[in-house]
Amino acid sequence: MIDIHTHILPMIDDGPTLEQESLEMCRVAVNDGIKKIIATPHVGNGMYDLDANKVLEKIHMLNQLLKQEGLDLVIFPGAEVHINDRLLDAEILRESSILTINGGKKYILLEFPFQWVPPKTEQIIFKLKSMGFTPILPHLERNYRIQRNPHIVARYVEMGAILQVTAQSITGDFDAAPLKCVLWMLKNNLVHVIASDAHSPVARPPILSRAVKVVADMLGEEAAKKMVLEHPRIILEGLPLGA
Ligand SMILES: [Fe+2]
Repeated sequence: MIDIHTHILPMIDDGPTLEQESLEMCRVAVNDGIKKIIATPHVGNGMYDLDANKVLEKIHMLNQLLKQEGLDLVIFPGAEVHINDRLLDAEILRESSILTINGGKKYILLEFPFQWVPPKTEQIIFKLKSMGFTPILPHLERNYRIQRNPHIVARYVEMGAILQVTAQSITGDFDAAPLKCVLWMLKNNLVHVIASDAHSPVARPPILSRAVKVVADMLGEEAAKKMVLEHPRIILEGLPLGA
């Protein structure tokens, strides 16, 4: 499996604070059958303004550690980019390749708030698409406004955004509202990818298999696997995602 949304690099955002904790997260991922991980630290949200070199250095360091430890896992670069009006002035995206998934200048993971829906979301999706970027919208099922009106997400998908839901929403590890919302999204075939949004080895772990099992029971094994294998691979490689 490929996990496209994680906070797995040490001492860079609100993920692990120690190298050993990062390594422990990697062990959890390997045990779950995850082979590739995209590290997506928070960028541009006012708390974390990272430069690309720092992210790449940390990824290099962690990949070296994984080799030393004999763990069959590779970390790739990415970012969780705060959704704001700066994205309408898309020069920022032309300048920095780290902001896109695997530096491919194709897919960009946006950081979506939990309490409100940014009023310019549709404009931002349109702008990014018109520049050749495909926005990935994470964990909309955890957004309070969307929980009350999930139909909004159908419009985003129609516009060409990729919907990524969080594995722990599907397994009911959060409360009932995100679970209800994510089941609605799954039933309506709006979900492209399941990712962990991992922050730690235990409380927010990089585990996808449990969610895959739930989705396989609902929609069949093939559909579930697409969300953790085929679609993430297409995104990692920067290819067009047809479905
Ligand atoms: Fe995240």
